[in-house]
Amino acid sequence: MVEHTTETRAAEVDAVILVGGQGTRLRPLTVSTPKPMLPTAGHPFLSHLLARIAKAGMRHVVLGTSYKAEVFEEYFGDGSELGLEIEYVVEEEALGTGGAIRNVYDRLRYDTAMVFNGDVLSGADLGAILNTHIEGDADVTLHLVRVPDPRAFGSVPTDAEGRVLEFLEKTEDPPTDQINAGCYVFKREVIAGIDAGRVISVEREVFPGLLSDGARVLGHVDSSYWRDMGRPSDFVQGSSDLVRGIAYSPLLEGKTGESLVDASSGVSGGVILVGGTSIGRGCVIGAGSRIDDSVLFDGVTVEPGAVVRNSIIAAGVRIGANVRIQDCVIGEGASIGARCELEGGMRVWPGVNIPDSGVRFSPDA
Ligand code: GTP
Repeated sequence: MVEHTTETRAAEVDAVILVGGQGTRLRPLTVSTPKPMLPTAGHPFLSHLLARIAKAGMRHVVLGTSYKAEVFEEYFGDGSELGLEIEYVVEEEALGTGGAIRNVYDRLRYDTAMVFNGDVLSGADLGAILNTHIEGDADVTLHLVRVPDPRAFGSVPTDAEGRVLEFLEKTEDPPTDQINAGCYVFKREVIAGIDAGRVISVEREVFPGLLSDGARVLGHVDSSYWRDMGRPSDFVQGSSDLVRGIAYSPLLEGKTGESLVDASSGVSGGVILVGGTSIGRGCVIGAGSRIDDSVLFDGVTVEPGAVVRNSIIAAGVRIGANVRIQDCVIGEGASIGARCELEGGMRVWPGVNIPDSGVRFSPDA
């Protein structure tokens, strides 16, 4: 009998990452950059996932792209720097999550494919999910994560053997705290059975269809770290959890702490950087400012005395002296004049120039 370690198994698994969505909930950040490429704890978000995939022992990665498809290959190339072999498949018209999986079928090399939503930050043990799939001889295995409040998600109950019973829509009274974590292992032949060339959702159509056809669909349940990075508040929280080591990334081993500042940025005296804040390349942070639980992309200027909390500040933004920003998204190249106050989910569009004024902007102002 041949003994398989988790890593030798993983070497014979294709990793498929879905990165073709428009990321509308993160606009205007995603107007110029696809969501998986947004800077998160000092790296494009997707770099953290690729590093986890490499660490688990997978080598061949297929990216299913559509929106701003060219950006991915420009950045990652053939993947060799990460110890991976990356291929890119472009959907001219986005095919949905199920259509995207079917669309990469011709590039699969092995009998098993592990599919990832490209915007999920997860601490799951990928080898353990693969083991559940292979030892359970499943057609499909879903990673299901237990969350404290499942009401905001569709839930996925399983039986005592781990077989998925049904896919339930959001409800006020879910029968289980297990939710779909956006990571699936497929037998290759199951992917062949998905309709080709049409828009199809894996969650709403493919999985329910497999259950009604009697396929063996297993759940791998754990309580690992999990966050869908699709909304600004989750994006900020996920990035700061990475910086603080609450969420794990192989790229940040030995670098975790209260903040992460690129070496090319200049931080003046008396600046307070806390709450897992990350500061990108070439930023200038003025004296006496405080940045808490926020993500600053590259080339941001923060003038003295500004306070930024729970916010995302895109590349090239200027934040004037004594500005207060809380729970906001500031688009690329915008300029926020001195003494302005922005709060409560405000989104400033790229290039907008708010003059010095001391005016308060909030949704209910
Ligand atoms: P929102 O527009 O804010 O909902 O974000 P999104 O477009 O990323 O959609 P969603 O969060 O539902 O997508 C989950 C994952 O699947 C993300 O990583 C998307 O990039 C990806 N995805 C969604 N739709 C498609 C698609 O049609 N094709 C491909 N290739 N990937 C997709």
